[in-house]
Amino acid sequence: MTESIQPKLSARGVWKFFGPRSGHPALRDVSLDVADNGFVTLVGASGCGKSTLLRTLGGLESFDAGTLLCDGHAITAPAPERAMVFQHYSLYPWLTVAENIRFCRRLGLFTRSRSSADVEAASGRADALLHLMGLAHVADAYPGQLSGGMQQRVAIGRALMSRPRVLLMDEPFGALDAQTREVMHDLILHVHRLEKTTVVFVTHDVEEAIYLGQRVVLMAPRPGRIDSVYEVPLPATRRQEMKHTQEFLQLKRDILARIRMTSGMQTDLDLLDQLSRAAAAA
Ligand SMILES: Nc1ncnc2c1ncn2[C@@H]1O[C@H](COP(=O)(O)OP(=O)(O)O)[C@@H](O)[C@H]1O
Ligand SMILES: [Mg+2]
Repeated sequence: MTESIQPKLSARGVWKFFGPRSGHPALRDVSLDVADNGFVTLVGASGCGKSTLLRTLGGLESFDAGTLLCDGHAITAPAPERAMVFQHYSLYPWLTVAENIRFCRRLGLFTRSRSSADVEAASGRADALLHLMGLAHVADAYPGQLSGGMQQRVAIGRALMSRPRVLLMDEPFGALDAQTREVMHDLILHVHRLEKTTVVFVTHDVEEAIYLGQRVVLMAPRPGRIDSVYEVPLPATRRQEMKHTQEFLQLKRDILARIRMTSGMQTDLDLLDQLSRAAAAA
């Protein structure tokens, strides 16, 4: 295999059990490659293993069988090259925005000897990230003074501070309102282009998954598994108005229908339908 086609992330036959082996695995035989600078989104019914797969890629969760590689090396623990961003911002409320972003470097300064050039580079990086994330004007504010969207920008800026090659995001915009989310979508696509990171992004919002992803990976529950993979037929540079195109809407319908089928939700909907028909007939 030549280096140019080696995927950034590669899962091969990954199994994960939380309980006894006789029960449903949280991940059953999961195989997935993510290309360098790829953007893959994971969707699927609640409990299908999206967070488990992401945490396993992050090295935060062990697994029971299979292989998991980043740049061809086994993933066994968390590493700065693979940064994670969660729904809840996990900022330090007693530090300003700028201090929150610099924080990981501060820790590094205490634990390793660094030259003043390193410190200067880190400081320049922090300033660049404040600008990139549109936070320069609130650099000295405290997280509690900011909106949810701004707080999440700080969290992303901090994740980028260590120049991660992989960004693992678990429903990072799940707590934000629709308008703020649209802004965050274009911002994260901009970051992805500029920083050339590889992104794996978990969401339960199918529209978000299609708008951001080059590929949408649909997972299904009981057992947690990959059900299907959709290539997104949109140009690389996304525009909000693409959400109204035929291709976009058709893909959204297909994915929603498949989630309904694989989640057991269709059974619930059929039951509701029967109940309402019985009520109407009575
Ligand atoms: N720490 C844990 N201990 C036991 N079971 C867990 C744990 N984390 C997740 N699970 C189970 O694994 C399955 C997948 O969960 P998760 O990855 O959180 O799904 P998703 O993110 O798709 O909603 C679920 O059945 C969940 O209950
Ligand atoms: Mg989850």
